[in-house]
Amino acid sequence: MGTILVTGSLGQIGTELVPLLVKKFGPSRVIASDVKSPNSDIFHEIEYVPLDVTNRDLVASTLKERSVTEVFHMAGILSALGERNPELAFMVNSVGTFNVLDSAMKAGVNRVMIPSTIGVFGKDTPRDNVPVVTVTRPTTMYGVTKVNAELLSAYFRSKFGLDVRGVRYPGIVSYKTPPSAGTTDYAVDMYYHAVAGKNYECYLKEDAALPMMYMPDALDSLMKLYSADEGRLRYTIDYNISAFSFDPRTLAESIRKVIPDFNVTYRPDYRQAIAETWPRSLDSTDAKIDWGFSPEYDLDAMTEDMIRNLSEMHLKSQPSR
Ligand code: SER
Repeated sequence: MGTILVTGSLGQIGTELVPLLVKKFGPSRVIASDVKSPNSDIFHEIEYVPLDVTNRDLVASTLKERSVTEVFHMAGILSALGERNPELAFMVNSVGTFNVLDSAMKAGVNRVMIPSTIGVFGKDTPRDNVPVVTVTRPTTMYGVTKVNAELLSAYFRSKFGLDVRGVRYPGIVSYKTPPSAGTTDYAVDMYYHAVAGKNYECYLKEDAALPMMYMPDALDSLMKLYSADEGRLRYTIDYNISAFSFDPRTLAESIRKVIPDFNVTYRPDYRQAIAETWPRSLDSTDAKIDWGFSPEYDLDAMTEDMIRNLSEMHLKSQPSR
């Protein structure tokens, strides 16, 4: 049994994925990596290696020297940061993904998991119930680089037989590690503010509906796809998945069912322009058929769980009297 390498282990998904992989496969099989260093001992049970995915030689040598057989390539620059730093987005999302795929192919890696995103869609894509195969002409740097990652993954799969799998994630809501500079992050921010007893000023318009899901379902989906029979997979990293769609107003209403005096004001900024190029809802049928995608949480169940967990964290962080 070989080694599983996770890139981007300190990101929103990586920090929750690593412990899940450790639980499932044991600490000796999992290596965490990120361009940053962990500032606590969150990965104390397992080996951690610093890894900048834009460094091709380092990616290649890491895979070879550590006998890596599976890669979860979670390193990525999200949409809002990508607009502020397009070169970084290109280097990490496009060049970094090429480096991982090329090195994986050359090192004989068995399977590579790479998340894609609703960011691959653009203004020419239908807004509702979007299927997997549709127009993907994004106008954000994030989208451009992720379409590139999708095409590269399909290329390495068909040309070299590399087993590459992934999903187009919608906005992901979670409480353990805040997301880094995405357009859908307002949803996480809104919960943080509500639990801290603060009002929230939202950078999207109140009716900016986007596809979303809760982290436990995002992780469960990735693992379902990871374990699926390869022969059943009709797509590469472009499986649409979404648990539900909501806009900021609907999310605020869901939060008010638990925290009635929570208040949101709206001041749209450049992220509204990004959101307007993305679909309101996705068709996840292909993921259901091919590998059994079945999210558990609906919006209110997610809200209850988020608020319960964030409240516990909030209480722990208060100085004791
Ligand atoms: N959450 C991502 C973003 O907002 C979308 O995949 O950038």
